[in-house]
Amino acid sequence: MKNIYLSQKAKIIKIEKISSDVKLFRIKRSKFSFIPGQFVLIGIWGQGEAPFAIASSPFEKNHFDIVVRNTGGRVTHALHNLKSGDELTFRGPLGKGFPISFFEGKDLVMMAGGYGIPPIASLAEYVIKERKKFGKIYLLYGARSPQDILLQKKIKEWQKKINVILTIDKPQSDWPGCVGLVCDLIQKIEVNPQNAAAAMCGPGPMVEALEKVLRPLGISDRRIFVSLERKMQCGAGKCQHCVTGEKYVCLDGPVFNYDEIDKNWD
Ligand SMILES: Cc1cc2nc3c(=O)[nH]c(=O)nc-3n(C[C@H](O)[C@H](O)[C@H](O)COP(=O)(O)OP(=O)(O)OC[C@H]3O[C@@H](n4cnc5c(N)ncnc54)[C@H](O)[C@@H]3O)c2cc1C
Ligand code: FES
Repeated sequence: MKNIYLSQKAKIIKIEKISSDVKLFRIKRSKFSFIPGQFVLIGIWGQGEAPFAIASSPFEKNHFDIVVRNTGGRVTHALHNLKSGDELTFRGPLGKGFPISFFEGKDLVMMAGGYGIPPIASLAEYVIKERKKFGKIYLLYGARSPQDILLQKKIKEWQKKINVILTIDKPQSDWPGCVGLVCDLIQKIEVNPQNAAAAMCGPGPMVEALEKVLRPLGISDRRIFVSLERKMQCGAGKCQHCVTGEKYVCLDGPVFNYDEIDKNWD
């Protein structure tokens, strides 16, 4: 029988500092296959494990990327002290990703707030590679300041292929783009309400606010998919740490239909 707690060793092949407290880690694997929205449990010897969304393209089979904010906790702090060539452990890919085949043929609005960009980045890479299978594609992404916009090099590439709209919380003299909440950006997009879907990841209140603007646009809860973050331990539906309502984020999620989640944001 497969041991669900058995992790695998893997080598870090690249580390990139992408903001004051966020680093991208590229981890070498061969034949690594996953669906955008799935996550891995990354382990550091002596420190424990923590879940991170896979942020890279699912078409890259020889490595995967995670984008990690140093919260000052055991795992993220230890991760930020590693260097290229060091080893860590991982379990995964775990959980349910975004429903790619449901999105195909539809207009797609991807939305991310703050540190919620990693799973949306992986989805963006997928839809750009398979561009012809989708209708209009938008990525709306909001951060506190220009410096807090993660994956800026990637975003420049995406801007050549899809509609990317960025916003920051407060006006800044060197920022020519939008200012305000991600949900305000909805006014700038045009989708076919009968045939559009949304994929999002961000802080709870942002997701709740977005839902209120997506509904009037004609996108029903059934067509809104949200990637949730909860504290996790086993990653296998055993420890109950990740429970939200009657669902396990590790097994039933982290991607949920908006109408099936417990909206008690914490
Ligand atoms: C499905 C899923 C995907 C995730 N994807 C990512 C990702 O792509 N990138 C990423 O950086 N994180 C992601 N997270 C969050 C990440 O797992 C946590 O930040 C991580 O578990 C912290 O572990 P730690 O051992 O460093 O901190 P812990 O020891 O767990 O916590 C230490 C301290 O940090 C605080 N803390 C922990 N996490 C957070 C947080 N997220 N926000 C604010 N304070 C916090 C705690 O309250 C505590 O005070 C994801 C979580 C889930 C469930
Ligand atoms: S993390 Fe243990 S049940 Fe989900």
